[in-house]
Parts: sequence; structure tokens; C-alpha cells
Amino acid sequence: MMNWWKGLKGKIRFSEPLKEHTTFKIGGPAEFFVEPKDIRDLKLLINLKSRYKLPLLVLGAGSNILASDDGLKGIVVRLSSPFFKKVAFRKNSIEAGSGVILSRVINLAKERGLSGLEFMAGMPGTIGGALMMNAGTSERSIADLVEKVTVIDYYNNVKTIGKEKIKFGYRKSSLTKFIILSVSLKLARKNKGKIKEEIAERLNYRRLTQDLTLPSAGCVFQNPKGGSAGRMIDLCGLKGSSIRGAVVSLKHANFIVNRSSARAKDILELMDLARARVKKKFGVRLNPEIKIWQ
Ligand code: EPU
Repeated sequence: MMNWWKGLKGKIRFSEPLKEHTTFKIGGPAEFFVEPKDIRDLKLLINLKSRYKLPLLVLGAGSNILASDDGLKGIVVRLSSPFFKKVAFRKNSIEAGSGVILSRVINLAKERGLSGLEFMAGMPGTIGGALMMNAGTSERSIADLVEKVTVIDYYNNVKTIGKEKIKFGYRKSSLTKFIILSVSLKLARKNKGKIKEEIAERLNYRRLTQDLTLPSAGCVFQNPKGGSAGRMIDLCGLKGSSIRGAVVSLKHANFIVNRSSARAKDILELMDLARARVKKKFGVRLNPEIKIWQ
């Protein structure tokens, strides 16, 4: 396995602290942190993964991840080179590389008077990450807009999959068995002013109801059927509860914020506490929405 990275055209870093790449500002060192330059680089990494049975994880914008304090063995890939950040418009559709930040796609569509993405305004993350977990609100999710997705599988085949062949559920998709390369989303023409207005409204609602000043990964739990995890945790009286540097946000109880040098361990303990209290009070089992890498 000596010096396998010599063949890479992209960037590689060794023992890279994941806390610098997650919105939680938490996470120990990734053994290999790679930003592939293109598909050829990505194929090289996939070959290594199979040959040496190395774990390989794809990091989007790091906005929905809780990474272990002890770090991770193997390869963490970030699709942040220009190759994975291309955007093109075709009629009323937008085709975006998986590494494009969601807010950029939303803004480019707005500038062209293309509507559909407004409901995601204020969501952090990349378009690939959003797709992988079928990000959305209670009314809509990104799956509603998908036309087709281009992926690479772990046998190095690149293929384009039509929407009908993809399974989407609440915050999940069958795309997790691939690495997403790009996606084509169907939008609709609309008055630019109206699009702007809706985006502004969404951003404002978030600013009013969510803690956007301290590091976090957004909502830590999925909403249970017909309910709100935030409301339940709030009704358990847990706002402001803390374990070392990790605190249940005073603004939104489904947010855990990193007030000061919180560790993954602290966040997990606080999540356990919230789960236990909600189970006891409401008989409801909460499932994590954030991805736990350990
Ligand atoms: N509520 C409380 N106390 C709280 C938090 C919320 O009583 O501490 C109440 C609110 O007053 C409201 C209800 O619970 O009546 C729902 O709250 P909110 O509108 O904030 O929506 P949510 O279901 O908690 C979802 C998404 C958010 C997304 C918002 C706004 C999930 C798990 N969460 O939150 O997504 O930003 O809607 O669209 O689906 C995320 O995915 O990371 C995330 C934050």
C-alpha cells in the first residue's frame, strides 16, 4: 500500500482533523483526507478501498455529521474540486455536480427565474448530501424535483439512474450505495420577485427559530410520524441542558450546539438523555437524523 497517493492528481492530507471540516467543529483525524480532481482520481480511491478493504466515507459540506473524537481509519473523500462543482441549465432543468453547495444552486435558479428549490433556503450542505438523505421540510423534499442522478458504484461503473429507479423515503434514499456525481432537477418558470420573497421568508423563519450562531449540525433527530422532535424535547424541559461543551439549544430543542470545545462523546450523551426523556414522557423512540461516523 506504499505511497498509493502518488497516482492522485487531487489533494491529499494525512491525519486531517475532521473538526475543521464539520459544522459541529467536532471530529478527530481522518487517516487520509482526499479531494479527488476528477472521476479518474475517484476510481483510484475506489480501487484502493476494494483492494485493501479500506473504509471510504464521503463528506459533503460536513453539515450533518458527527465524527468520532478518535478520528477515522481509511479515506474521507470530499468532492470539492471544480470538476464536482459544475452547474448547467437545460430548458427548465438544472444539472449540478454533487459538490455544489445548496445555497448556490438555489441562488443560480432564482437568478434565472426558476422555481422549486425555495423550500430548501437556509439548509446547509451540498446538493449531493441533500440528495443522499432526501433532505427537506415536513411538506416537501428534494426527491420531488429529481429527474435523474449520475453516480459511480463501488465497482467503478458510472451510470445515470432515472428517478423511477431510485427509492426515496423520509430522510433516506437508495443512493447511499453509490457515490453521487451529479443530479438533474426539474424546476418551473416563475416570477423572480416571488421566488426571492419565498426565499427571504424561509431564511427569516430559520433565523427566528434556530440557533445559527453556534456550531451545530442542525436537527439531531428525525421527526417522528406526525410529531416534532423539537417540540417533544422542549416539553421535557431540556432546553439549556448541557454536558460539558454540548448544550440543547435554547432556541430550538432539536438543535444541540457546540458551546465550547464539545466532543462527539458529549453530543452523544446529550442525545441519549433526550431520547430517554422523550421515550419516558411520550413513549416515542427518536432516531438520529445526523450521521454518526465512528
Ligand atoms: N417547537 C417547539 N419547541 C422547540 C422547537 C420547535 O415547541 O424547541 C415547535 C414549533 O413551535 C413548531 C413545531 O415544534 O410548532 C415544529 O418546529 P419547526 O417549525 O422548527 O420545525 P421542525 O419540525 O422542528 C423541521 C426540520 C428542520 C427545518 C425546519 C423548518 C426535521 C427533523 N427538521 O424542523 O430541519 O429547518 O423544519 O423547515 O425535519 C435539519 O434537518 O437539520 C433541520 C433543522
